[in-house]
Amino acid sequence: MVSLLHACLLVSLCICMGVEGWDMVFDRDGDLSLSVILQDDLVKRLNYDGIQSYYLTTKDGYIINVERIKRKNAEKLVPIIFVHGMTACAKSYFVNKNESAPIIFANKGYDVWLLNSRGTENSRGHIKWNATSDREFWMFSWQEIGLIDLPATIDLVLENNIHDKVVLLGHSEGSTVIFVTLSDMPEYNAKVALSIHWGVSVYHERCSTVELVTSICRMEPVLSQILDSIGLFSIVPSLGLKYVVRDVCRYTIFKDMCFEAAKVFIQSDEQIQHVTDWSFPISQILCGGSTRELYHFMQVANTGRFARYNYGAKMNMKLYNTTEPPLFHLENVNSVTVLYCGKNDIFCTNSDMEKLTSQLNNIASTDFKGKSIFGHFDFLIARDVKEVVYEEILKIIKKNTS
Ligand SMILES: *[C@@H]1O[C@H](CO)[C@@H](O)[C@H](O)[C@H]1NC(C)=O
Ligand SMILES: *[C@@H]1O[C@H](CO)[C@@H](O)[C@H](O)[C@H]1NC(C)=O
Ligand SMILES: *[C@@H]1O[C@H](CO)[C@@H](O)[C@H](O)[C@H]1NC(C)=O
Repeated sequence: MVSLLHACLLVSLCICMGVEGWDMVFDRDGDLSLSVILQDDLVKRLNYDGIQSYYLTTKDGYIINVERIKRKNAEKLVPIIFVHGMTACAKSYFVNKNESAPIIFANKGYDVWLLNSRGTENSRGHIKWNATSDREFWMFSWQEIGLIDLPATIDLVLENNIHDKVVLLGHSEGSTVIFVTLSDMPEYNAKVALSIHWGVSVYHERCSTVELVTSICRMEPVLSQILDSIGLFSIVPSLGLKYVVRDVCRYTIFKDMCFEAAKVFIQSDEQIQHVTDWSFPISQILCGGSTRELYHFMQVANTGRFARYNYGAKMNMKLYNTTEPPLFHLENVNSVTVLYCGKNDIFCTNSDMEKLTSQLNNIASTDFKGKSIFGHFDFLIARDVKEVVYEEILKIIKKNTS
């Protein structure tokens, strides 16, 4: 019955749209089986030696993958570490391919490293827990990524490079993670020449400027109780779901729909007209994560406090010796910071920025050419991103590392 209904729908859609609407237009790199090797393939085409993978075991047992663009004498170049956003991972930084940030920075003579934080597809190992069957594996938020994964990555990079300081670049949750490290592992400020934040992510008044997101956000902690009770602790898109999204976005008749969906995050039509196949970027940003990463953001938004994870009064008392989770010590951040928040970013507003900048004491810049047009994801994919972001960043890095 259901399939008959589907067939009818399909037939009527075909009649309405005309059969030519079912043409598929896609980018070869959007193939999911290819995307795994895309980065290696890409950097080799651009005359690097490939992607080198490092694995480190954290003090709480996670096996974390860190990537590096392999080249001769990399250890003599100033190191930069890319820290990705929520559900994204290292490969998300490559959506603009030969014009993506890691490539542009490598071309300018930096030793490029990219973190795959715990829970993303390359970092699902643990000395004790199985990510598929043990819920304990997923009991972390960006707090643990900032307190454990990033400091361990900074040490790994410094062991493999002659310089004594790294540059950190975080997008979205990557920005949050960097602030956790610099606030509550304050000795790491001495190992960081500067940190750059795209789509700054500390305070999120009302969660987002999108009403729907605000309403969902208000549902924490009920939402976390419900999802915990049904055993949902991870955000791991199945390959099936990825294939559906990919295939839908490849049909020409659905292109407008995929474009509209992308615009929620990107906002500026003109900046993304060059993307003809959304299946590719979408497949690159679904790498997985924990539900707690999301709840922790909701807690910060609802309370206005950039604080540790709220486990409830009783558990907080046991873990923190206070009923309310303690604040992160932003006053400890004394390495140089560069904060970029676009005017069309639905996750960061002027008031979020004002609140943060009033608590930091070493800000190099908050202004950039693309400020008036940029949305949250433009930093990775916008047409003009090189001119309005990367070139300015390169100048600031140079000034602060020589
Ligand atoms: C990237 O590749 C495209 C298509 O091959 C080319 O037109 C463009 O000039 C390249 N950009 C750079 C910076 O090499
Ligand atoms: C983890 O658990 C899954 C499902 O129970 C199983 O298929 C897989 O082999 C396990 N992995 C390891 C490394 O033991
Ligand atoms: C817990 O907090 C109380 C009151 O603030 C304080 O007296 C006590 O020393 C703290 N205990 C620990 C272990 O920090």
